[in-house]
Amino acid sequence: MCGIVGAIAQRNVVPILLEGLQRLEYRGYDSAGLVVVHDEELDRVRSTGRVADLTKKTASTQGLIGIAHTRWATHGVPSERNAHPHVSKNQIAVVHNGIIENYEILRTRLTSEGYEFASDTDTEVIGHLIHSYYKNGGTLLAATQAALAELVGAYAIGVIANDNRDQLVCARRGSPLLLGVGDGEHFIASDVSALLAQTRKVVYLEEGDVVELGRHGYKIFDVNGRHVERIVQLSELSNDSVELGLYQHYMQKEIHEQPQALADTLESVCNSQSLVPGIFGAQAANTFADIDSILILACGTSHHAGLVARYWLEEIAGIRCNVEIASEYRYRDSVANPKSLVVVISQSGETADTQAALNHAKSLGHTHTLAICNVPESALIRLCKLRMLTRAGPEIGVASTKAFTTQLAALFLLTLVLAKQRGRLSLQDEQRHLHDLRHLPSAVQKVLELEPHIAKLAEKFASKHNALFLGRGLHFPIAAEGALKLKEVSYIHAEAYPAGELKHGPLALVDKDMPVISVAPNDALLEKLKSNLQEVRARGGELYVFADANTHIKEAEGIHIMHMPEHAGYLSPILHTIPLQLLAYYVALQKGTDVDKPRNLAKSVTVE
Ligand code: M6R
Repeated sequence: MCGIVGAIAQRNVVPILLEGLQRLEYRGYDSAGLVVVHDEELDRVRSTGRVADLTKKTASTQGLIGIAHTRWATHGVPSERNAHPHVSKNQIAVVHNGIIENYEILRTRLTSEGYEFASDTDTEVIGHLIHSYYKNGGTLLAATQAALAELVGAYAIGVIANDNRDQLVCARRGSPLLLGVGDGEHFIASDVSALLAQTRKVVYLEEGDVVELGRHGYKIFDVNGRHVERIVQLSELSNDSVELGLYQHYMQKEIHEQPQALADTLESVCNSQSLVPGIFGAQAANTFADIDSILILACGTSHHAGLVARYWLEEIAGIRCNVEIASEYRYRDSVANPKSLVVVISQSGETADTQAALNHAKSLGHTHTLAICNVPESALIRLCKLRMLTRAGPEIGVASTKAFTTQLAALFLLTLVLAKQRGRLSLQDEQRHLHDLRHLPSAVQKVLELEPHIAKLAEKFASKHNALFLGRGLHFPIAAEGALKLKEVSYIHAEAYPAGELKHGPLALVDKDMPVISVAPNDALLEKLKSNLQEVRARGGELYVFADANTHIKEAEGIHIMHMPEHAGYLSPILHTIPLQLLAYYVALQKGTDVDKPRNLAKSVTVE
């Protein structure tokens, strides 16, 4: 998704803006641009290439105030004319994340007032609207506030004017934006990682905030225009955590970070002798006592985590659980159960569909809400009464990896806490699960040792156009996640099916050109799964089986086995995820795709 960086300083801000944009590249973009004020002129440079191209094009650009943007096209094709910043009458420059829903009405009105539109974007109306107020006199802040009052939709914006090199104005509603506090300089960004090279002191803006930044201070005004103070926080992210280090790609780095990410997420629990609801917030015990079911809302990989959790929650905690794709739920007139706990799962905490689904659930009468999320201070964290932060650290690769396995760990804890509260967890079982959780990071580490074998296996996929993933029960969502990873980074069309569903249709697809990847844990459904694999083999399908020890599935012609080091019981989905992530990664390497920034995709999907 789009990214914003802005700076007002006593030094040239161009390197600050470029470094910030570079750090936002992971969010996905198709064009980039920046503008600075120099000699009372707006000096704007844009490019449809990478930030590196913009760097070349701005070699001689200088200014003490500027705003910059990476664009992920929504309105209008990726092109230089649609790239931000957008400029009105050479006086006002704007960068924008989000979508302005009433832009067509505004565009018609502004056109009749003499404004010319140079792009197909919704953003351009913001610049012209601000200009229409600014030209009548008054401050940039006042003109921006007046313009914002007319906008319908979501935005995070940065604004500068050619005749004012001492003030940068920014605002947010529905899209994230934060301030960076420096010494004699201030910054804005849509993501804290953009600012880490400048400062770790940040202010997370609230919905509706508008800010006037100078070099030596800033003033925040809330949604009602009142001057307010917001807390300055010290970001816990270190500069290193967003560096690639020795790895070739962020996806590979993040796959390898999973043992640590899991250990960090489970830290408080694994260091104690028993499970307490407090890990989900001070009100958790009361809330959990009042609920009779769970409703999980999420998108993409996070939705797959919810699908795994449904098995755990119903089987271990004995609580009814529904899992819904957020983008569908938000538009469905469902029957609300106020005794249900609404759980939103999200890496970014900013996914527009998940936010909208949560708000929809609330509007239907749901009051019990829990966010499982990887980003502190994100929108979903703020919107929920209960919360658990996964501590995966920044996930830069567009393909979600460590966020997924840490979500699973958090959801397993939720299951155990609810099971205990509902009298379904003996002391002995609690200790056994705690033991398994403590062992989990090293179990994942052992699976990672399969990497060279999987890299070899991936060579067989380079020429394939399709792949089928099979799993059963708790591992069907893992097959679905494996298929999503493969299609996302290698562009091979992949589908997942519960193995028992094969003969109801997808078996027709199986022939020698269709690789079939199967997750084969040593669980109660193993023998059923083996029969399904026979059905594939009998039709000439080539099988790739990730099998636990003692499954007695043998390597043979057309059957390739990858042996998993151990069977992890209920935690097995976490272990079985790892080889599928590695497979997708190495197939993508074979195919030479842009692994960390797959075409057409964005890291956090903050628009509908
Ligand atoms: O930030 P979120 O977890 O809410 O994001 C949800 C999906 O957009 C995300 O999981 C997406 O499917 C990933 N690219 C999958 O790798």
